[in-house]
Amino acid sequence: MPTIACVNGRFLPIGRAVVSIEDRGFQFGDGVYEVVRSYNGRLFRLDAHLDRLEQSARGIRLPIRYSRAYWRRLVTRAYEMSRFPDAKVYLQVTRGPAPREHRFPAVVRPTVVITVRRLDPLPESVRRRGVSAITVPDLRWGRCDVKSLNLLANVLAREEARAAGVFEAILVRDGLVTEGAISNCFAVVGGAVITSPTDPSILPGITRAATLELVRREGLSLEERALTVEEYRRADEVFLTGTTIEIVPVVSLDGAKIGRGGPGPVARMLQERFAALVAAECGGPAAPGGGRASRRSRRT
Ligand code: PDD
Repeated sequence: MPTIACVNGRFLPIGRAVVSIEDRGFQFGDGVYEVVRSYNGRLFRLDAHLDRLEQSARGIRLPIRYSRAYWRRLVTRAYEMSRFPDAKVYLQVTRGPAPREHRFPAVVRPTVVITVRRLDPLPESVRRRGVSAITVPDLRWGRCDVKSLNLLANVLAREEARAAGVFEAILVRDGLVTEGAISNCFAVVGGAVITSPTDPSILPGITRAATLELVRREGLSLEERALTVEEYRRADEVFLTGTTIEIVPVVSLDGAKIGRGGPGPVARMLQERFAALVAAECGGPAAPGGGRASRRSRRT
């Protein structure tokens, strides 16, 4: 099954897909992106991702002239060409090529790149056992609600996590947990599910939103407020959400156990409900071995 690349609407083998060295995405990280995933041949919440892409683009004053219908057609076509039932679809829009000069070019010709790769989901054993995390200072800019290409602080935080032998770096600004380097963070305290509010200090995650739907549906108490690192350390449960990881319990933070040191009941219940939500929206569990899903089930 092929990895797909598409540059400005043109489909190419990934090795031949190129953009200019003068592209502002390359020069300045001047662009925005999305990561969408599919389950069982269907893209999960494509419209929510396209909404956020448009919001991010507005956030950096980047006009994207593609209509929603065109975006949907293009992404769906790229996805269908890949034939991966479980795929990671990457969308990137930059302010295009121009001689290097910080201010916007007089004429902007955005570069739109799409790639579709097979997604290797987090092993079920990891999801069941939970993961470890460390806290690191949140060194990112002030508009973390924009999914911008400027990921250097996230890259460095992830590298710190890797070097520490843990799964995720949890970012801390002014003593408060914002989110993970590639995920949103939740704590469970006395039965209440607590997560940072959607302000410019976090990315409004699509999985976060789906998780909040589940929390409300289950009638659990929900608070959207930032917690201190200490509150996270003392929480009964901590878990992470994200497109590529879904819902993952954190069982150890900075080397100390969270709760009893195993996945808690709220995270486990939400994992189950999330799987049911995906099955309801994307039609059942992913086909094992990567068999091609029917065209009918591929519609998004
Ligand atoms: N990242 N917060 C940050 C900083 C993220 O980078 C991500 C996802 C999330 C979770 O958002 P969502 O549920 O919409 O995936 C939160 C993607 C997957 C990435 O950069 O690869």
